[in-house]
Amino acid sequence: MGLMFKQLHSLFVGDAGPIELRRVHDEDTLAAIRAGMDEYAVLVFHDQPFTDDEHLAFAQRLDGALHTKLGSAAIQKNRFGNEALGDISNLGSDGEILKSDDRRRAYTLGNRLWHTDASFQDPPGRYSMLHAKVIPPVGADTEYADMRAAYDALPAETKALIQGLRVHHSIAYSRQTLGFDFSKDEEEALKGAVYPLVRTIPRSGRRALYVASHASRIIDWPVPEGRLLLRDLIEHATQRQFVYRHTWRVGDLVIWDNRCTMHRATPFEDTKHPRELRRVTTLDMGGPEMAPHTPQPSERPGKAGSLL
Ligand SMILES: [Fe+2]
Repeated sequence: MGLMFKQLHSLFVGDAGPIELRRVHDEDTLAAIRAGMDEYAVLVFHDQPFTDDEHLAFAQRLDGALHTKLGSAAIQKNRFGNEALGDISNLGSDGEILKSDDRRRAYTLGNRLWHTDASFQDPPGRYSMLHAKVIPPVGADTEYADMRAAYDALPAETKALIQGLRVHHSIAYSRQTLGFDFSKDEEEALKGAVYPLVRTIPRSGRRALYVASHASRIIDWPVPEGRLLLRDLIEHATQRQFVYRHTWRVGDLVIWDNRCTMHRATPFEDTKHPRELRRVTTLDMGGPEMAPHTPQPSERPGKAGSLL
């Protein structure tokens, strides 16, 4: 089966085809998809007629063990009885559209903040694979930011400043910024996790900023200074030149690498139109790339100037 990539953005994102992923079992094609992920960080596959079981099986063939602690489990039971099959929808367990004051809706509105999946868990998410079943007539796109290109574009003094820093990620923090409060029990189940601010992605060797709305503070820094730096980095990384916007079609499967991208949902009339997607995310078991990076001589502080 021939697999080709067409780049959709000047920096990243490949349109991959023609291929029917549920029928892909051979190691050569799976390796070609992984190589495409290393290069493009986001791959778009149109016209994928996955059942949920086929979606789950393909994700494991491509990237191994699946994540089952994706945050929402703390506040609601999975609609499909399988925590590995993420319910990215505006529907309740009865299949009806959630009302505007529903707590589950308030929780999912957090997906409109820039984030990277499960960065508040240990292990976090590596590849997320989102499959579109029902799409509303207008809106509900997903935006992606290339955190490798954003890192590359930083001034040398900023690269030197941030090397070796570690960040605490917490979904309780990110949801609280929207006024959503977890109960004590929920918070207990979501204590957060600590990861390097700069990661080196295996195979490609590229460095990437690992930040998100879940990033609550920089370890060993005063909270205000840490939050200001995190906010500056997210603003830098989400400038338009680093962002691709995906407009969904039914049957699309988009795979993104959570280690080197951020994403966010865009608004739509979610109390009026159903939107239904399924997300499967693999476990990022870490390894050497999770260790803080040692700065190279070329990255050491130079002349004073703008940090971003
Ligand atoms: Fe997400």
